[in-house]
Amino acid sequence: MGRDWIFVCATSELLPGESRVAWDGDTPILVVNLDGDYYALEDRCSHEDFELSAGALDPAEGSIECVLHGARFDVRDGRALCAPAYAPVAKFPVEVRDDGVWTRDDR
Ligand code: FES
Repeated sequence: MGRDWIFVCATSELLPGESRVAWDGDTPILVVNLDGDYYALEDRCSHEDFELSAGALDPAEGSIECVLHGARFDVRDGRALCAPAYAPVAKFPVEVRDDGVWTRDDR
């Protein structure tokens, strides 16, 4: 899985503070624009596999909170910031080209 880049959306559709979900095969990927920098994480909480994209993005802190039990993750590197999650979420590469945002599951 994941040898090819997956088109997420046009850059104009992912403004600072916004997020989008794209799929690479069976992998849901949450792509976030933080002040013009793009980051991609697996859209799956490391606590109980819930979709992180259902939760609130905090652009100031650069974190996203899982809506199920309140774990927070740093969107820049996927590390868990508070219980009940301790394991990080997988981080994926992002590329911006031709006014589009691309990502892929590179595992
Ligand atoms: S599933 Fe995300 S905090 Fe429990």
